[in-house]
Amino acid sequence: MARRTKIYEGKAKILYEGPEPGTIVQYFKDDATAFNAQKKDVIEGKGVLNNRLSEFFMTGLNQIGVPTHFIKRLNMREQLVRQCEIIPLEVIVRNFAAGTMAKRLGIEEGLQLPRPIVEYCYKDDKLGDPLVTEEHIAAFGWASQQDMDDILSLALRVNDFLSGVMMAVGIKLVDFKIEIGRVYDGDFQRLIVADEISPDSCRLWDIETGQKLDKDVFRRDLGSLTDAYTEVARRLGVMPKSSTPISKPKLIN
Ligand code: CDP
Repeated sequence: MARRTKIYEGKAKILYEGPEPGTIVQYFKDDATAFNAQKKDVIEGKGVLNNRLSEFFMTGLNQIGVPTHFIKRLNMREQLVRQCEIIPLEVIVRNFAAGTMAKRLGIEEGLQLPRPIVEYCYKDDKLGDPLVTEEHIAAFGWASQQDMDDILSLALRVNDFLSGVMMAVGIKLVDFKIEIGRVYDGDFQRLIVADEISPDSCRLWDIETGQKLDKDVFRRDLGSLTDAYTEVARRLGVMPKSSTPISKPKLIN
């Protein structure tokens, strides 16, 4: 069988050329990184969980009319997605203060914000994804004013959808990050939600106990990341019982 062409390898995913033009195969690795890749580990089963969870969220978004790049899941670790031009911004939506925002503004983690706050970071690992304003985005031509209006409306719709889905299973959506891609349909261009939506890119806290069920478990050494992600998947009814946990092969006598 012919080897597939690798297009790009990132920290948590690999992209391969898809079977048809305009498609890409997105492979979820088990690698976990934090603090701009200064902290690294391999967390067995993380890729399988994130593949399933991202499928779940993207499918739901497609169903309510929020366009995403997701086409279908191919297997345990791979999904077929639509090829798009990624806008070089990380779009962050915050409902409660946490992480860098809490630090930057001296706000206590967990404080509910008066309304959702959308932030933009310029996607550049070497620079540590710096926070930018719409002025920078317009001046450097990363996105047009029309794009920014569409991005804001997409981000807020994703926020409402994810907040509701999470609240239904007793989880608070503190914040999350999405990436936006540009696709061309004939003469028209439109924006879609791309990349992944998973506990790697969200902050998720149990509503009752405040227990963290996201990548902060890894960032702050709070226990087993697989257990946390499995709990999110279990509550959402995402992982069929038989495929968790991912155990090593056993000798049969
Ligand atoms: O995560 P960190 O404290 O470094 O940054 P943040 O700005 O507080 O992150 C806000 C949200 O975006 C968190 O849910 C992060 O997990 C997510 N994020 C991400 O997925 N990828 C990044 N490069 C930066 C933030």
